[in-house]
Amino acid sequence: MTAPTGAVGQPHTRLEGREKVTGTARYAVEYPVDGVVYAWPVQASVVRAGITRLDADEALATPGVLAVLWYANAPRLHAESDVDLFLLQRPEVHFRGQVVALVVAETLETAREAAGRVRLDYDTLPHSTVLTETHPGLYRPGHVNPAYPTDTFVGDFEAGFEAAEVRVDHTYRTPAYHNNPMEPHAATAQWRDGELVLHDSNQGSTPVVGTLAALFDVPPGSVRVISRHVGGGFGSKGTPRCQSVLAAMAARAVDRPVRLALTRQQQFSLVGYRTPTIQRIRLGADADGRLAAIAHDAISQTSTTTEFAEQTAVYTRGMYAAPHRRTSHRITRLDVPTPSWMRAPGECPGSFALESAMDELAVACGVDPVELRIRNDAVVDPEDGRPYSSRNLVACLREGARRFGWADRDPTVGADRRGRWLHGSGVAGSSYPARAGASSASAQANPDGTYLVRTNAADIGTGARTALWQVAVDALGAPADRVRVQIGDSRLPWAPVAGGSTGMASWSWAVVKACRELRERLGDRTPTEEVRVEANTTPETGALTADPSYARYAFGAHFVQVRVDVDSGEIRVGRMLGVFGVGRVVNPTTTRSQLIGGMTMGISMALHEEGLLDPRFGDWVNHDLATYHITSNADVERIEAHWVEEDDPHLGPLGIKGVGEIGIVGSAAAVTNAVYHATGVRVRELPVRLDKLLAGVTALAG
Ligand code: MOS
Repeated sequence: MTAPTGAVGQPHTRLEGREKVTGTARYAVEYPVDGVVYAWPVQASVVRAGITRLDADEALATPGVLAVLWYANAPRLHAESDVDLFLLQRPEVHFRGQVVALVVAETLETAREAAGRVRLDYDTLPHSTVLTETHPGLYRPGHVNPAYPTDTFVGDFEAGFEAAEVRVDHTYRTPAYHNNPMEPHAATAQWRDGELVLHDSNQGSTPVVGTLAALFDVPPGSVRVISRHVGGGFGSKGTPRCQSVLAAMAARAVDRPVRLALTRQQQFSLVGYRTPTIQRIRLGADADGRLAAIAHDAISQTSTTTEFAEQTAVYTRGMYAAPHRRTSHRITRLDVPTPSWMRAPGECPGSFALESAMDELAVACGVDPVELRIRNDAVVDPEDGRPYSSRNLVACLREGARRFGWADRDPTVGADRRGRWLHGSGVAGSSYPARAGASSASAQANPDGTYLVRTNAADIGTGARTALWQVAVDALGAPADRVRVQIGDSRLPWAPVAGGSTGMASWSWAVVKACRELRERLGDRTPTEEVRVEANTTPETGALTADPSYARYAFGAHFVQVRVDVDSGEIRVGRMLGVFGVGRVVNPTTTRSQLIGGMTMGISMALHEEGLLDPRFGDWVNHDLATYHITSNADVERIEAHWVEEDDPHLGPLGIKGVGEIGIVGSAAAVTNAVYHATGVRVRELPVRLDKLLAGVTALAG
C-alpha cells in the first residue's frame, strides 16, 4: 500500500477494502462475545397515550426469555437531557412506534417471539400528526439548527418585490424522508466491573461516551465505545440513539452481554427522519432576470418532546445576490417521532425550493437558467457583506455546462421528442458551509521506523480512514507503508463526529498538528524508544470559527438529462453531472464516491422517496424498502462528479471544505427542472410521480 510521494490528492482505494469485501471487517453486532444474549424492542401501537397495564406473563413464560423491561422495572436512568433517550422510564407514549418495553432472551428468535406476547393497555388521547401551513400550533422557534437566527431581513423585501418587473411566487413541498443506512442502528453492550464496553454503530463515539456516562451515572472513563466500521449514517447516527441505551440497560438488567440491532421497519420510527417542509419562495427581478427581492418562508415539524428546527431557508440567505431579502422559519409540535439530521439538513430541502424557483424565474424572463444563476452570483455574502474565502459557483456552472454540452440545448419546453420519449435537461446550483471543529490526535514514532497516528474519527463508509492516512503520510514525510492510522475507538484521542461535512476538515487538522509537532520533536533522529505527541486544535478551530473576515462555503452545479415516456409518464434520468468547488480533494476516489452518493440521493428525493403517514394511526404506512422506494443502481444510468481546482488559504492547514453533503444539495431541483423542460409540467410537490406527469405529457403528445 505505497502511495506516491505527496499522498494527498492521489486516488487510493480504501485501506479496509479487502476486509470489507471478504466480510472480515466487523460491525457493531458482529464481534464474537461469550454468553451474549439478545434484546428486542416492543413498540407502542398507539400515538399519544399513557400505559395503564403491562402483562409480561406470557412473554416471561417463553423458554429462554430472561427479562421484560418496561418503565416500572427498567434500570433507572439519570440526566434527562434528551427525552428520546430517556427510555423505559415513564408511562407516557409520545408517538406511535416509541419503545415501551424491551424483551431480553437467549436467542434473537426467542426475543422476537416473546416481544409479540407482551400485552399492553393504554389510555389514549387525540393526536395531531399532519403538517399543514395553517396548523394552529405553528410558532417561531428561538433559533434554527444548529444555531442560526430564525428569521432574517435585509432591505425592504415587500417594496422590492412589488416594484419588480417579473415576479415568481410559489409554494414547494417536500415529504418526510427516512435515513436508511445499510447497517442498521446496532449495539453490543457488556458491563465488566462497573465499566461499560459498547460496540456501537454511530457517526462518532466521543459524544456517545458522554451521553451514556451521564444516563448511567458512571464516570466517562468507565465507558468505552468501539466503532471500527460503520455502515452508513447520513445524520441518523450523528447523535446517540436508542440502541446504545437499550443495549446497555438490558446488559445491566440481566448481567450478560446484550446485542440489539434495529430492524429496517423499526428504523423508520426510531432513528429520526427529515421533516416534511412547506416552503413559499418569492422572487422579484428585472426583465433580464437580475434579482431585486428574495423571500423564503419555511414551515416544518418537530415532536412534542424535542424542538428540532430544520434550517430550511438558510440556503437562500447566501446563495444569490439581491438587495431586498427575507427568510423565516415556523415549526409546529406534532405527535410524531422527533425529526433529525439527514444529509444536508436544511440545505437539501431548501435548495429544492430555491433552485426550482430560479428555474421558474428563468422561464418567466426568457433567460437561460445557467446564465440566470451567473447573473445573480453573489460577490460578497448577501446578508452580512463578508467576502467569500473562495466562491466558485460560476466556475462550476461554466465547467458543468461545457462538459454537459449545455450550449446545444434548445430552451423550448417539450420540443425534444424522440419516439415515445420526451427529452429535457435541467440545472441547479448547490452550496454547503465549510467548517471545522476542534479535534485531537496523537502521532507516535517507533524505534523500528514506523509511525502510528490515532484519533477517534469515524469512518461511516466515507473512506475517512484512508484519507487521514494520506494526510498523515504527507505530514510525517514518511514512506506510506511505515504509517498506520487507528480510528473508531473512544480510547483514542477524542474527536468530533462525522457530521456537517466537517469530519475530514476537523480530524485532519489535528492529525497535521500532531505529526508536525512529532517531526519537530524528533528532528532527524530515529528514536530509540516510542515518542508520542498529542495535539488538540481547540485554539485554531476556535479562531477560525470566530474570524468574521470570510464567509466559507463549498459551491457546485448539477446538470441533469431526463426522458419521460409520453404514454406512461415513466421518468428515466439518463445523465447526471455535477461540478463542485470543495477546496482540497484529499482522495479523488473516495471524494467522487461521496459526491455521486449525494447526487444519487437527489435522484431518489426527486423521483422515489416519500414517507407516507396515515393520520388515523399517526404512523408511516411505508416503513420498509419494499414500500419506501429509493433509487437503485438501475435508476442511475450515467453519473459524473468533477471538481474545479480550489486553493483556499482561509480554511484549515489543508484547505479542505468537506464533501459529504454538497452532492445532494440542489440535485433534486436539477431533476425536476429537467422534467419541466421535457414535459412542461412543473412539479412543486415531491416526489415526481408518473401520475403527476400524465395529463401534461398526454396534452403535449396530442
Ligand atoms: Mo450529516 S446530516 O451532518 O451527518
